[in-house]
Amino acid sequence: PAPIMRTLAEMRAATLPWIRAGETIGVVPTMGALHDGHLSLVEAAKKTCDRVIVTIFVNPKQFNNPDDLKNYPRTEVDDARKLTRFAVDSLYVPNADQMYPDRFSTTVSVDGLTDVMEGAHRPGHFDGVATVVTKLFLQSAATDAFFGEKDYQQLQVVRRMAGDLDIPITVHGCPTIREIDGLAMSSRNLLLSDRARVTAPCLHEEMEKIAEGIAAGQSFGDLQRAAIARLENAGFTEVDYLEIRANDDLSLLDTPSRPARLFAAAWLAGVRLIDNIAI
Ligand code: PAJ
Repeated sequence: PAPIMRTLAEMRAATLPWIRAGETIGVVPTMGALHDGHLSLVEAAKKTCDRVIVTIFVNPKQFNNPDDLKNYPRTEVDDARKLTRFAVDSLYVPNADQMYPDRFSTTVSVDGLTDVMEGAHRPGHFDGVATVVTKLFLQSAATDAFFGEKDYQQLQVVRRMAGDLDIPITVHGCPTIREIDGLAMSSRNLLLSDRARVTAPCLHEEMEKIAEGIAAGQSFGDLQRAAIARLENAGFTEVDYLEIRANDDLSLLDTPSRPARLFAAAWLAGVRLIDNIAI
């Protein structure tokens, strides 16, 4: 299994010889409860980089809801076991005071891209993400970082942050990995009851229907209304958003007149699911 590092000092000691040797270092930031979506990022990193560091840190600063933080699945032993077959160079599992010591005072905040969707529904969330990802990039001195399109807005926020701050790292976006029934893999899926798990794939099904409808020339407004009605009928309690946005700047579109995706967030039995697909 990969050696586990818990302090920044250990991280620096591990990476120094790699940096001196001119090796490329890939970092895969996660919050653990690893599934095949996370593992696809690890695989991409192994293909691209000489060295790979996986990080697991349930970042308190990005949780706007205390219950969500408390209930977030933590499965470190299983996670370390799942990584064995990838032969990653190290697993970094910092504790909270390693990342946020007393008197920690700095926030990295990305404007614009964070005004909509997850940013609008989860106040402070992207400040927490941008701050912790900045730290992970600087701590690991990685040359490459791997993020999932599952969290497409996060991917774009991280790209903008790294560009704006001149952090010398290439951010790679990797496709969303799904269960057989189409549900996007997510650590929070572990929180779904058996019954809710049966209903959960409806979100992706409705999104695919909208994509087909648009391809057939139907109006998005009509498709959107019908999809929301069916989701609520199926047991979703609230659809936070279901909208088309441009890939690059996430501006709202009513038709995919330029490269765009369909984005959704919806609540099912107390669990918030998000997804997006290219259209
Ligand atoms: P987490 O939700 O654990 O996700 C870690 C990475 O895995 C993210 O880049 C996410 O987009 C990717 N991922 C999750 N599910 C995926 C799927 N089904 N297919 C492909 N990739 C998937 O995202 C976070 O953690 C945190 O915000 C983090 C970036 C680690 C900062 O704390």
